[in-house]
Amino acid sequence: MDQIVQQIAAYRQEIESLEIGSPQQLEEYRIKFLGTKGIVKALFGEMRNVPNEQKKAFGQVLNEFKQFAEAKYEGAKEVADNGPQAADDIDLSLPGDPLVAGSRHPINLVRKRIIDIFHRLGFAVADGPEVEDDWHNFTALNLPEHHPARDMQDTFYISQNPDWLLRTHTSNVQTREMEKGQLPIRIICPGRVYRNETISARAHCFFHQVEGLYIDEHVSFADLKQTLYFFVQELFGKDVKVRFRPSYFPFTEPSAEMDISCLICGGKGCRVCKHSGWVEILGCGMVHPRVLENCGIDANKYTGYAFGMGIERITMLQYGINDLRLFSENDLRFLKQFTGAV
Ligand code: DAH
Repeated sequence: MDQIVQQIAAYRQEIESLEIGSPQQLEEYRIKFLGTKGIVKALFGEMRNVPNEQKKAFGQVLNEFKQFAEAKYEGAKEVADNGPQAADDIDLSLPGDPLVAGSRHPINLVRKRIIDIFHRLGFAVADGPEVEDDWHNFTALNLPEHHPARDMQDTFYISQNPDWLLRTHTSNVQTREMEKGQLPIRIICPGRVYRNETISARAHCFFHQVEGLYIDEHVSFADLKQTLYFFVQELFGKDVKVRFRPSYFPFTEPSAEMDISCLICGGKGCRVCKHSGWVEILGCGMVHPRVLENCGIDANKYTGYAFGMGIERITMLQYGINDLRLFSENDLRFLKQFTGAV
């Protein structure tokens, strides 16, 4: 038996030093060692001639050898199947595959800047559904069913349940936060909104807003003005001027529209500001007491302000973009111009 064991050791060495480089060599190896007339099989045949008391030890040697021979085969087969990638096949001097760097979408860039500024003032970000019910988008905000102000915000209704609609502003998030009843509230609500509008350079059926809401005891219009003034100075620079014009929103009273001095001409008058020197950037006001009551807040104790702006509009002003449709056309020539902006 010693002789056979020595023979097995020799086979082991042979296998170890064997380099299998082609499918043909692999097949030759299989036939030689693992085939029905191969070495492993033949060695098992020797079992007959081994004395009974040595059979166990010999069986163990045989099994180990068989596993070893099979492992070599499996390893070589895997390389053959998956393609060899020997270390010396790799040419380290070749230039690497270029990694195409993506860029943030301009809407995301500006949304992030807006959020950062309000973060510093202690505003938290709140989120809510884009498919909303009538109450949270309209009725709770003092826009009852037949109110003409709804015409300004026509939207898309879910035909299976006309009470559901695509939200026209992110004010629905304000409604939901107020209903939670945890005061004070100081939030901004960024998100996508929808309107039934004809698509043009200035309007789209969907766009993005950031709205803000601050409710506490003794919140005043002076707080609103100062907060928004700080905001535009942070976003557009210290030279920017602001003005408030009286306006109307059903959910605020008094309401105002805020303009900033035109960034293009510095207030002298140009095409962008229609020669007025001012551009409108947001709507705002003191939350209407009826809205507070609708959401279960005591309007005698609490007051609050709210504001809302379109991100597209601000992005167009910041980057001098003249067509709103560019934001959603996925034209890489447009999007690549924002590579590197953070
Ligand atoms: N929701 C208004 C809009 O989409 C914008 C707005 C105006 C939001 C005044 C407010 C606000 O929260 O107080 O046109």
